[in-house]
Amino acid sequence: MLVTGGAGDVGSRVVRALSAAGHDVVAGSRRTGVDLVTGAGLGAALQGAEAVVHTASSDRRVRRVEVEGLRHLTETAARTGARPHIVTVSIVGCDRIAIPVYRAKVEAERVLQASGLPGTVVRATQFHAFATYVAQVLRLGRAAFSIGSMRIQPVDVEWVARRLAEHAVGPAPTGFCRGRDLAGPTVYDLRDLTGLLAEHSGARTPRVVRVPPILRAMRDVSQGRLLAGREALVGGRTFEEWLEQQPTVLPRQRRVPG
Ligand SMILES: NC(=O)c1ccc[n+]([C@@H]2O[C@H](COP(=O)([O-])OP(=O)(O)OC[C@H]3O[C@@H](n4cnc5c(N)ncnc54)[C@H](OP(=O)(O)O)[C@@H]3O)[C@@H](O)[C@H]2O)c1
Repeated sequence: MLVTGGAGDVGSRVVRALSAAGHDVVAGSRRTGVDLVTGAGLGAALQGAEAVVHTASSDRRVRRVEVEGLRHLTETAARTGARPHIVTVSIVGCDRIAIPVYRAKVEAERVLQASGLPGTVVRATQFHAFATYVAQVLRLGRAAFSIGSMRIQPVDVEWVARRLAEHAVGPAPTGFCRGRDLAGPTVYDLRDLTGLLAEHSGARTPRVVRVPPILRAMRDVSQGRLLAGREALVGGRTFEEWLEQQPTVLPRQRRVPG
């Protein structure tokens, strides 16, 4: 099995889940000599791989890694005659929100579909760490700025990783398919999130100020387009349960957007 982005937040957990189940796993990313942008190391990493879980991503070079990178992966597989089942992780609502990162995710899904390889796209909502980052970015001093009535449904990255690993070891589809969307059990608004984060660190709860959603992307977020639909698979730890296991001071860590 190959896990692209195998050192990343979700990828490292997929590697662990697959290894624990007794599979041979290659964690492919630049630090192990596999670069999706240049194609370096891809041929060797794909050798003998029955499945690929594609989680490589970059917050600075989103399109190059997400779209062109996936194209390199599928073309390399085709060139070497390999037909691995490719499982990719995408974002719930990416086709409903006018943000460049989300457009890149939709484009990447199409690359997989057009490749003719057995492919499964699994969309997930925001990981808890990314939800934390969003809440931190929207906070300024004693105020937190909510984009209209934005709400999110963050999900446990560990649980997502296990679902991705299950797709990889399960039967491959004959062509392209969408797996069930993955989402956490609870929907939060910014007041909930900043309140929980303040309580966790023993700080004062910020005052929430609503910013009118003047841009289209802001309206999309305000209208709940990041939330999962009724058909989604819901599970994993809640944000509160995840937070309990985090250090009191949570670093402000830039993340790949979800
Ligand atoms: N964060 C969220 O809330 C969220 C929600 C839903 C879906 N997702 C999706 O989940 C995926 C992974 O997110 P994550 O938070 O786990 O990301 P992450 O922790 O930033 O990991 C990304 C990985 O990609 C590798 N990478 C970067 N450029 C590469 C390249 N050119 N070639 C090969 N590997 C490369 C990095 O390793 P090296 O530096 O060693 O190359 C790293 O291991 C993304 O597709 C994201 O859209 C994220």
